[in-house]
Amino acid sequence: MIAVAIDGPSGAGKSTIARRAAQALGYIYVDTGALYRAIAYQMLRGGVDLDDSAAVADGLAGMRIELKFIDGEQRVFANGADVSDLIRTPEVSMGASRVSAVRAVRDFLFELQRSLARENNVVMDGRDIGTVVLPDAQVKIFLTADDTVRAKRRFDELTAKGADVTYEEVLADVRQRDYNDTHRETAPLRRAEDAVLANTTDCSFEESVHLVLTIIRERV
Ligand code: DC
Repeated sequence: MIAVAIDGPSGAGKSTIARRAAQALGYIYVDTGALYRAIAYQMLRGGVDLDDSAAVADGLAGMRIELKFIDGEQRVFANGADVSDLIRTPEVSMGASRVSAVRAVRDFLFELQRSLARENNVVMDGRDIGTVVLPDAQVKIFLTADDTVRAKRRFDELTAKGADVTYEEVLADVRQRDYNDTHRETAPLRRAEDAVLANTTDCSFEESVHLVLTIIRERV
């Protein structure tokens, strides 16, 4: 099996770029952020205090998180319900950043991610795929862009969906999540030594896809 690990900060375009690369290669695309989001969503609904790591760890008891691929598209299920469309709010984004700092949450999702890569050729994106989840991936890419550019892209995405947010709010959110993701104790976001750095600050979407596909094709 072939695994392509794509890590990087939020808003770098990982998911759209990774999805397109997976399509071009005929691999499945695994968005691991959706797993953390599904857990955050479920816990927010259950009134769990996400800053209380013991409560978060307890909240995992009996929780069932699954990924299914319907017409090649990933859908995420929490306790049997498809929550894919409910996990894209700013509240869940920030919640996912919080729960992902809890070791029990990362351990809980580890085997699910590993098993997907054991059974399929995958392009998997996240924060710790090249460093922790798939350290033997044939290709590792660290995809990034300046935070102002990432915030602008996320802002455009959110407002296109009708969300009521300002650019300043989105930028503050991006910076807060960068800080959380790089400073947590468990599996912090960092570039694996053997990851190729892809900076898309000055790239259009198509150029970013081309860059990533070129890096992959040179290696597999
Ligand atoms: O990629 P995303 O925005 O959907 O990720 C949501 C949050 O989940 C993000 O703040 C960091 C966390 N995450 C993680 O810690 N490890 C992963 N492999 C994927 C996401």
